[in-house]
Amino acid sequence: MQLLDARPGELILDLGCGDGALTERVASYRCTVIGVDSSLPQLEAAKGRGLNVVLMDGRQLGFQRRFDAVFTNAALHWMKMPETVVAGVTNSLKTGGRFIGEFGGKGNVEQIRSTLHDILRMHGIDPMPIDPWYYPSPEEYSELLSKFGFIVSYMELIPRPTKLPGDILGWLEVFAQPFTQAVAEPERPSFLQEVRDQLATRLRDDNGNWVADYVRLRFKATK
Ligand code: BEZ
Repeated sequence: MQLLDARPGELILDLGCGDGALTERVASYRCTVIGVDSSLPQLEAAKGRGLNVVLMDGRQLGFQRRFDAVFTNAALHWMKMPETVVAGVTNSLKTGGRFIGEFGGKGNVEQIRSTLHDILRMHGIDPMPIDPWYYPSPEEYSELLSKFGFIVSYMELIPRPTKLPGDILGWLEVFAQPFTQAVAEPERPSFLQEVRDQLATRLRDDNGNWVADYVRLRFKATK
């Protein structure tokens, strides 16, 4: 929120707004916020908060030079084809507009990701075409933004080990669906159990809490 520095009267795009929790906070700065997301259930939740939201794929942003800022949180790592996304962001912004965000950066959930890959391979499945995540390094993402004409004023990789509210199985059910769905349905419970067993020695602390190895990339750039 501090990096975004939203001012009253501004027009702001929330890219990957999800259920609108942060969109609502941006709107509280007395600016107009439009949220886009590719998930209908998430948009329904955002509409329930009275927000102005549109069903849109981040790779097909259809705005022309309208926004003072594009804001994004925990969404860009789900969007492969990052060049197409950044091209859409730059088209959406006015000259001088800001692009501010945070998402998974290089090394994010590396223990979880590599374990999912290993166990899928043991099941005879190539994980590469299934893996939905994009986790660039600061250098890689700065270079991409610069290529599309942005001036990058801030870019930081932030390790953030995060205690999960429950078991890793709950996390996997929410976030690892593309991996699990690649496994035949009858084998899914044992697949998840194998992943859990492998991760238990690395991600569970002495009190039995699961701590995910999150790493975030936070940035600010100007068009
Ligand atoms: C998230 O969308 O919050 C997320 C996705 C994958 C790994 C970690 C977090």
